[in-house]
Amino acid sequence: MCYAIPGKIKSIEGRTVTVDYFGEERRALNEIQNLTVGDYIYAQGGYVVQRIAPDDAREILDVWKETFFDLQDVDVRLSRIDLDRSNLSSKTGLILDLALEGRTPKKEALEYLLGLENEAERNYLYKSANFLRQKHLKNSCCVHGILEISNFCRHGCHYCGISAHNKGVERYRMSREEIIEAVTEAVETYGFKALVLQSGEDPGYSVQELCDIVREIRTRFGVLICVSFGEVGLAGLKELYDAGARGLLMRFETSNAELYASMHPGQTLATRLEHLREAARLGYLIFTGGLIGLPGQTRKDLVEDLLLARELGAEMFSYGPFLPHPDTPLGAHPAVSEAEVLNLLAVARLVDPTNAKILITTAFETLSSNARRLGLLAGANSVMLNVTPVRYRQNYALYPNRHYRSEDIQNQIEETIELLGSLGRAPTDLSVKAG
Ligand code: 5AD
Repeated sequence: MCYAIPGKIKSIEGRTVTVDYFGEERRALNEIQNLTVGDYIYAQGGYVVQRIAPDDAREILDVWKETFFDLQDVDVRLSRIDLDRSNLSSKTGLILDLALEGRTPKKEALEYLLGLENEAERNYLYKSANFLRQKHLKNSCCVHGILEISNFCRHGCHYCGISAHNKGVERYRMSREEIIEAVTEAVETYGFKALVLQSGEDPGYSVQELCDIVREIRTRFGVLICVSFGEVGLAGLKELYDAGARGLLMRFETSNAELYASMHPGQTLATRLEHLREAARLGYLIFTGGLIGLPGQTRKDLVEDLLLARELGAEMFSYGPFLPHPDTPLGAHPAVSEAEVLNLLAVARLVDPTNAKILITTAFETLSSNARRLGLLAGANSVMLNVTPVRYRQNYALYPNRHYRSEDIQNQIEETIELLGSLGRAPTDLSVKAG
């Protein structure tokens, strides 16, 4: 669980510690030496990332104490399912009853739910997903930062605006110093406890250089580092893990091998899955998922996409709408609707009711101005803020008009805290003080 509210160590068993948060207990993996019962720590995604001085911890906990329980009350209230089922078909009602009991609906039923169009039915699906999220994961919401360190890429993925074929995009590659500076700001000024470092598949950095950067960050800061540099090879994954990376963000994009091959010239789904499986074996937290609305993609495919993320043991499900970029081969292919994305997020929650962080992607925020509120009320519990220096951000143009392409970090945080507060969620990945 991503609590960046300080927790207190209750017990230690080998590398596993039990942490207390206002009476709730969570388990986390500890790699900090000499940690003892009674110490205060920050944990992220199941890892202890930092020990904090008891006085500092108590001061922060004092501020959180009242707000925390108030937030939980709001969340519980918003997550109730009203009993008006008069507009519900018996088929939808039956499937959702099953899901609410914690049983994953069959593939055919999941496919049916993805295709719901009627508003009353869709709302019931979203409420069911939100209920399950609250029941199993309470009001915790992950707030990670993403730093896009380079937009060079050697691949020619058909949907992607920074593919090697797009000559219209201005390329940038942050230097090690610039990366460390941006991370320092994100951690020290803004309080991020988990950061994703992302780039295109950029041959301009060697794995060794990436490892050096990760190692320096982990030595200097108590922060969970999640890497997203594409296919670095199985040996590369191991080296990055040894350097201190503990999360891997890598979408498989689609579970349909033929569709995958047609979208990614020269690449195969098998190689991508090999990376993901090896990363899981090494102990990485897996953040994965795919694109919604690729040409020729069916609802059956989407169901398989969700089941694949679960099979991979994903900690975070990251599914976002494909958005057409005019300078790509798919420039004329239409995007999906807001409802189709919400249906998928809610069905994702039914597929993994108890564990998954389900992310509201920036692509969804670009598609719909209400994405976060609607998504968080439809089973999602995770958002990412963009901490890339503004001077580079607009060049990370995966698709046009990307949300947050110029908004400073402080504004993004304030907007997020306000929204989460109104929904009763605790922004438990940022060490911001409540109130
Ligand atoms: N629309 C939406 N998402 C895109 N991505 C790349 N191009 C697009 C697009 N046109 C996503 C891919 C990749 C992630 C970094 O960005 O799914 O995994």
